Amino acid sequence: MLVQSQNSIAKLMHNDTLHHASYLAVAKTRAKILKVFSLVIPMPRPLLFVGESACDELCDMMINEGASKVFIVTDAVLNKLGVPAKVTDYLEQNNISYHVYDGITPDPTFEVVNEGLSESVNAGCDAVLAIGGGSVIDAAKMIAMAQGNNCQPKQLIGLFKAKKPSVPLYCIPTTAGTGSEATIGAVVSDDNTHQKKIAIDPKMVSLAAAIDPNIMKGMPAHITADTGIDVLTHALEAWMSVNAGAETDYYAASAAKAVMEYLPTVYKNGDDLKARQEMGVAAHYGGIAFNKAGLGYVHAIAHQLGAHYSIPHGRANAIVLPYILDLNRKASEKRLAALARKIGLVKTGQAGSSDGELADHLITQVRELLETVGIDPTVKGMQQSDFDSIAKAAAKEVSDTYAVPTYMQASQIKDILMKIKTASDERAATS
Ligand SMILES: [Fe+2]
Repeated sequence: MLVQSQNSIAKLMHNDTLHHASYLAVAKTRAKILKVFSLVIPMPRPLLFVGESACDELCDMMINEGASKVFIVTDAVLNKLGVPAKVTDYLEQNNISYHVYDGITPDPTFEVVNEGLSESVNAGCDAVLAIGGGSVIDAAKMIAMAQGNNCQPKQLIGLFKAKKPSVPLYCIPTTAGTGSEATIGAVVSDDNTHQKKIAIDPKMVSLAAAIDPNIMKGMPAHITADTGIDVLTHALEAWMSVNAGAETDYYAASAAKAVMEYLPTVYKNGDDLKARQEMGVAAHYGGIAFNKAGLGYVHAIAHQLGAHYSIPHGRANAIVLPYILDLNRKASEKRLAALARKIGLVKTGQAGSSDGELADHLITQVRELLETVGIDPTVKGMQQSDFDSIAKAAAKEVSDTYAVPTYMQASQIKDILMKIKTASDERAATS
C-alpha cells in the first residue's frame, strides 16, 4: 500500500515536472517573440512638458495643433477638487471650447468608456485631454482611439486593432505611478465579470504629456506611497526582464534612482514641488521602460490580489515585490548589482561591493523604503482556497506577456501567497 502511494506521488511529481517543462518552453518562446515585437513595432513617445508651466505649454501645443473643442476626461473627485480648472481657465482665456466628462471610475468598465465616447462625439470634440491617474488615462486612450476609428471600444481589445489614428490625445497625469501616458496598452473591465480586457496599439500613445508638480501636490501620502512603489516596480521588473536593452535600462535605472531618492521626501512633504516633479518624470520613465522590456511576477500576482481582494494596484505591488526580489536574487545577481552601482547605492571599489553583496544591499534598501513610506502588508480576506486560481492566472499572465529571469512552478507561487497571508495575519493580530 505504502509502495503504491509512493509510486502515485512519484508519478504526480513526474507529471508536474513534465507540465512545468512544457510551460517553460512555451513561456520562453513567447518571451523571444515579444522581444522581436518590441524591436520591430514602432513605440511612439509623447512630447514631454515638465515643470510648473507644463500644463500651459501643453494647452499651447493643443491650440497650435488645431484643437477647436477639447474633450476633457477626468473623474468626479478631481473635478470636485477643481483640478481641471488650471486647464479650463487657460483654454477660456484662449477662446478654445471644451467639454468636461468626469464619469471615469477606478478600473473603468466598457459602459463608462462608451458613455465618454458618446459624449465626445455628441459634443463635437476634436481633441481628447486626460486629467487623472491611470484609470482616467486608460479610458481616455480608448475614447480617443474609438472616436478616431469610428468604432466601439470593445472592438479595439486585442493586438493592433486600430486601423486609423486616434483623435489627438494629450495627458496630464495627476499621480506619479502608472506612466500610462507613455505606454501602448489600456485596460478596460468587463461590465459583468469585471475581467480585465487589454488593448495594445501604438496608435493610443498620447501626442504630449505634462508633468506639472502643482497638479500632483494634493495627492494624499498613502496614495503617493502606493503609486511611487508602482513606479519602482515598473523600473525593477523592466531592469530584471530578459528582454531589457540599453534603452530600457537607461529609463528603468533613472526611474529607480529617482524613486529611491525622492519618494521618502515627497511622502513626508507632499508640497515639495521638486520631489513631486522628479517622481512625475520617474513615473513616465518607468512607463517607457516596461513598455518595451515588460514586467514580471510582481505585477502578475499583484493583478490577482487586486482582483480578488480589492487592493490598490501600487499597494499590491509593494506587498509582492520583496518576495520576487528574493526569488530573482540568484538569477539576477549581476543585474541587481549593476543597478545598485548605476544608481549610486554603493560605489564600485568600496568595501562590501561584490555582486552578491550589492544585490543583497539593493534588496535591503527596497525593503527599508517600503517601511519608510508606511506600506501596510495586510491583505484583508485572503483565502487559501483562492490560491490555486490566483497561481494559475498569474502563471498565465507571465507566460503570455513577460520575459522573466526566473520561472516558478504553481507550488512556488502558492508558497509566496502563503507567506503574504501569514505576514498579513500577523499584522492583523498585532494591530
Ligand atoms: Fe504597475
